Amino acid sequence: MTHFLPSLPSILFLLTVFSTTTVNLCFADGGFCSVPSVTETEEEQKHLYWKVTNPTLSPDHLRDLPGFTRSVYKTDHALITPESHVFSPIPEWTNALGAYLITPAMGSHFVMYLAKMKENSRAGRPPSGVERFLFAVQGSASLTNASGAIQNLMVDSYAYLPPNYDHELECVESATLIVFERRYASTMDRLPEQIVGSTDEQALLETPGEVFELRKLLPQTLQYDFNIHIMDFQPGEFLNVKEVHYNQHGLLLLEGQGIYRLADSWYPVQAGDAIWMAPFVPQWYAALGKTRSRYLLYKDVNRNPL
Ligand SMILES: *[C@@H]1O[C@H](CO)[C@@H](O)[C@H](O)[C@H]1NC(C)=O
Repeated sequence: MTHFLPSLPSILFLLTVFSTTTVNLCFADGGFCSVPSVTETEEEQKHLYWKVTNPTLSPDHLRDLPGFTRSVYKTDHALITPESHVFSPIPEWTNALGAYLITPAMGSHFVMYLAKMKENSRAGRPPSGVERFLFAVQGSASLTNASGAIQNLMVDSYAYLPPNYDHELECVESATLIVFERRYASTMDRLPEQIVGSTDEQALLETPGEVFELRKLLPQTLQYDFNIHIMDFQPGEFLNVKEVHYNQHGLLLLEGQGIYRLADSWYPVQAGDAIWMAPFVPQWYAALGKTRSRYLLYKDVNRNPL
């Protein structure tokens, strides 16, 4: 009989188990319910594209979950989200770290990387025959060309540097740039020229059948073998066309959130996410949330695909 009477130690043990479980349950509950949300007024005080370098990370219970990432890598597309960025020194650059997000190892003919320039940093030159496009998402950097013209690249401004173009890119404080590079596909015609500009200076272009707003950052003339589009969607707007085409894309979501469809997968995406789209991958976007979606998109153009 005495075997069935609970002893004092076993009661204490049961109490301990019970209270630990209760504590864990509350903690888990709290984790789900108390995810801090950034209010719109807080967001308005941040500078343009602030979200790219300060993304909303997953709620803590997901961020701390070992092995969790939203990043996906498939043969015809990839989603590379901020928690899986790996920064390392960029060859030939001084005081700068880079995270390559798209490279030819995926099948692309271009690279796309985030370059974090620190105090007193300097960019290296692209390899011979390689053209470069820079877009500033944080801080500022200065570009000096062979004529000695100095141009300041601040957030939302960009530069296109033709292949073998003599220039210096330096940063006194800090800057984060998104960089595209590819081997220039010559047409034996006119060579491309240096271009410096900012998104807000670019005219809105016609987008027949679509509701999004489109700007192109490079001229549409034949000497340029790619263009960079800036596309804006209000929440609830989406692409009407379900594109499947020969061109490649590298995309950086600069603002907002939504659902990107790539092949037969549908991905929740947010500012700071990068996407690789191989030729002919079915692609589609719908903007959600409460603020504008804006993305920057590399697209190869003006060359015979043969
Ligand atoms: C340097 O930049 C200035 C200003 O954009 C431009 O007028 C000049 O032609 C450029 N020099 C070269 C060598 O491209």
